[in-house]
Amino acid sequence: MEVNKVEKIMRILGIETSCDETAVALFEGDRASGKGRLLSEQIMSQIETHARFGGVVPEVASREHLSALPIMVEEVMAEANCGWMDIDAIAVTAGPGLMGALLVGASYARALGAVNTIPVIPIHHMEGHLLAAGLAENGLPDFPFMTLLVSGGHTMLVRVDAIGEYRIAGQTIDDAAGECFDKSARLLDLPYPGGPEISKLAEHGDGKRFKLPRPMLNRDNLNFSFSGLKTAVMYAVKSHGVLSNQDRADMAASIETAICEVLVNKSVRACDQEGVKSLVIAGGVAANRCLRSMLTQESENRGIEIYLPQAKYCTDNAAMICYAGFLNQMVAMPVPAEWDVRPRWELSSTDR
Ligand code: KG4
Ligand code: ZN
Repeated sequence: MEVNKVEKIMRILGIETSCDETAVALFEGDRASGKGRLLSEQIMSQIETHARFGGVVPEVASREHLSALPIMVEEVMAEANCGWMDIDAIAVTAGPGLMGALLVGASYARALGAVNTIPVIPIHHMEGHLLAAGLAENGLPDFPFMTLLVSGGHTMLVRVDAIGEYRIAGQTIDDAAGECFDKSARLLDLPYPGGPEISKLAEHGDGKRFKLPRPMLNRDNLNFSFSGLKTAVMYAVKSHGVLSNQDRADMAASIETAICEVLVNKSVRACDQEGVKSLVIAGGVAANRCLRSMLTQESENRGIEIYLPQAKYCTDNAAMICYAGFLNQMVAMPVPAEWDVRPRWELSSTDR
């Protein structure tokens, strides 16, 4: 089924259920200008449900998506004052993520598509993150640009030459930056997800107090490694013994500084090496205040233009999914007739 190409306006419903956030959004784009706006959006976080288990429980996540999604879709449609006749396509996260959670979103999107005769566009979750900065007033930078993509499961530097043309210039060889935040937070007895908790605690801490490694900083490539840093945090916490409130704040600040320094250094190096003048950040860790200010500072020093999405579009959301659907339509990316959810899915231009 083809997306209607005659109308000037295109409305895309976005559905995201890849992990522990159920999200629905509706984007209205103008085919002529390539610009648009969100008509409505909703996010329901399951964090409180999973927090007591110290991480996401896949079965529980699927069940929560299943009960929340139909109501949220109805509310988003009502808020935007839209009926199904007004919707040109449904964009849904098809992977990567938790198999059961993805299946809930994909099945629901397919059912909606079948009943209302609307095409369904499978979207790569990381492509959603990658393009989320474009939801801001000034949109995305001109191509090519570099994106630092830092989420719970991924840490990569991606060169974007066009919509659908993504080349990974560097990535983590073990843990992701978000994972390092989360695991280090556990060592400090902080709740899940650890990134925002470490960041909060770090506000009153001294980031120079504990000497932690900057993994791979001096290697002549754009890859990352964070598992050694997590181990160093474990030894630092153990060897220190009982931690006072100030010790904990200093430890949190030292962890945050170590992670951010590596991310910032490699990001600007990637821009230099690739001869790219614009840097976009994306993914949950991109909401981190320390990372945003360090990157802004360093980019200014190097004459790189930095694009920071609003914090709510860094963490998982459906606005980025319908926006990615819109941009894919703008370049006439074919909508596959048959597709399946893909819990593991590489981000590359050919594997779509
Ligand atoms: O992109 P995201 O919401 O979900 C995935 O696709 O993985 O990223 C979640 C990750 C978690 O590791 C979380 O701790 C981290 O992003 N995160 C943060 C902050 N907000 C979320 N890390 C550091 N500082 C934050 N403010
Ligand atoms: Zn994500």
